[in-house]
Order: sequence, then structure tokens, then C-alpha cells
Amino acid sequence: MGLLVLLPLAALAISGLGAGPLLLTAAGQEDPAAVERLFLADEAGAGEFRAVAAFPELLDRRPVQIKVFRSLASKDPDIFGAAVRLCLEAPRLESFAMIRRRLSLAFRSQDAWKRKAILQLAREEPVRLQDLRFVSLLSEALRAPDPALAESALALVRSRSELRGLPAVAESLNHLPEEGLATDLTLPSLGFFRDRVLPLLEKSGADDKTCFDCHKSHVIFRLEPAQERAGPEEVRSYYRSALRVIDLKRPERSLLLLKPTREKPPKGTQASGSGQHGGGVRWSGESSSYRTILEWVRTGGY
Ligand code: HEC
Repeated sequence: MGLLVLLPLAALAISGLGAGPLLLTAAGQEDPAAVERLFLADEAGAGEFRAVAAFPELLDRRPVQIKVFRSLASKDPDIFGAAVRLCLEAPRLESFAMIRRRLSLAFRSQDAWKRKAILQLAREEPVRLQDLRFVSLLSEALRAPDPALAESALALVRSRSELRGLPAVAESLNHLPEEGLATDLTLPSLGFFRDRVLPLLEKSGADDKTCFDCHKSHVIFRLEPAQERAGPEEVRSYYRSALRVIDLKRPERSLLLLKPTREKPPKGTQASGSGQHGGGVRWSGESSSYRTILEWVRTGGY
């Protein structure tokens, strides 16, 4: 009697294993069309987002892109996190301007739950810890007034000690009462930054623009709030932003030095890595501005 009841249950359990992301065609291969259908369904969850990542060809499908775009603005932390994760796992999604912009907004969001969802991704690995958007978010989260957010940022730093070697993270840690998180790196001088670097960032180029004009709302090198006469608070905030784009081990490799010397990318394309600068050439690698900033970076070190 007992066996008769148990058998159908066991069969159910086995067929249950086949459900979810693993959908096989008659030929025994995963079927992208079925994966797409499930992904586009209203009830799709994080599992369906993960399944899509395995099929690069699906990322070129318009309905898939639109769903990713919408999900990046989802109020459901699981869907929001799954969408950010998919973008990080499949960087080509960022070649679509609407997705790139929305991902930027996601990284820049002041909502504690969104920040927590992204920090959570870093704990699970898909975020490259060197991703500067992530470093920016983490260093801000460490100083967040929301204790739960600050605590989850701190927990991440505790578990990944290499994060403490990043200047922007080290600067945030310096302001925490937490014991045992100190690093032996010396941050570049705040006074030098205020007196000699900041004036360079405020100087207009040939197009009449200053760094401030374009960098108000950037995720990484964000010069905010842009103020005529900056007080100590603003100066520190610009300083913190600058710390995200310097390389203390190889100062010449600092984005803060490389970007202003690089050409604009061709129309319709994106500046990639350090090769080009969205704002075009601001000064040359032989200029006194360049040398001053290099000197500033070298006031820090390990
Ligand atoms: C005309 C607008 C414009 C101006 C002026 C400008 N930038 Fe940029 N900058 C951009 C854009 C757009 C990007 C993003 C694309 C890229 O990576 O180049 C960018 C990227 C950067 C980055 C990489 C980090 C980030 O936030 O994306 C750094 C560092 C940077 N700029 C430094 C500077 C400095 C220093 C100045 C002033 C000397 C400056 N920029 C002036 C438009 C500008």
C-alpha cells in the first residue's frame, strides 16, 4: 500500500528536477526559444534571468532587451538584482544605450535596498570587484546613514580583504570606528588636492567646459554638488571621487591622468576603458596639469 503512494511522489520529484531553466529540445539540447518564452513571462524570476545569460544570441532579441531595461527599474529586489547581474555577466547588453543608462541609474541610486541588492551580488561573485561603478557604490555605502546598508557594506569588506587596498574604500574605512580594518596605504594628500588639483578641474578647456560641467551626475568620477565656492564638505566629496580613479601602485595608469589626454570616441560609439575619453582631450601628457595630478597621486602609496 505504502509503495503505491510513494511511487508517484518519487516520479514527480524526478520530473521536478527537469523544470526551471534546463529546457531540453527533442535533440537533447537546451532550447533558446523556450528559455526566452519563460524569461518574457510576467512571473519570470531570478532563475529565468540566469538561464538567459547562457544564450548570448538571446541578448540580441529586442523583447529580451526591453525586459532587461524594464527590470532594471523593478521595485522587486530579486528582479532588480537579477537584471543588474545579467548586465554584469553579459557586458554586451551595455552596448544598448537605453540599458546602459538605466544600469548607470541603478548604480547611482540612493535607495538603500537597491544598493544592498548590488552589494549582495558582489558577495555572490558576478560583480568584478574592480568594477569602478561598484567601488563607488561600496565606498558610499560604507558611510551611509542607513545602518543596515553600512553594515552590509562593512561585512563585504571584512570578507574580501583586497577591497581595503582600494583608495576610495580605505578613505571610507578611515572614518569608521571599526577596529581592525586599517590598511597600510597612505592616501594622497587632501590639502594638495584642494590647493593644486581642484583648480585644474575648475578650469575651462577650449570648448569652454570644465570637468565639473560634464561630471555632475557620473557614477564614478562624480563632481557633485558643483559649487562656485566649495566648502570643506564639497572638497572632500570631490576628493573622494578622485580617489576612485587613481592607481596608487601604478600612478601613470590612473584614469584621472589618462582620460583627459585621450581623444573623443568616434560618433555613435562609446569610450572604451582608458583608450578614449567621452569629453575628449582636455590637456596633453606633457602639460603642467598632467604633471601636477601625477605629483598628487604620488603623495599617496603603499
Ligand atoms: C564635454 C564633457 C566632458 C568633460 C569636459 C570632461 N569629461 Fe571626463 N568624461 C566624459 C564622459 C562622457 C565620460 C564617460 C565616457 C568615458 O569613459 O570616457 C568621461 C569619463 C571620465 C573619467 C572616467 C570615470 C567616469 O566617471 O566615467 C574620468 C576619470 C574623467 N572623465 C576625467 C575628466 C577630467 C579630469 C576632466 C577635466 C579635466 C574631464 N573628465 C572633463 C565627459 C567629459
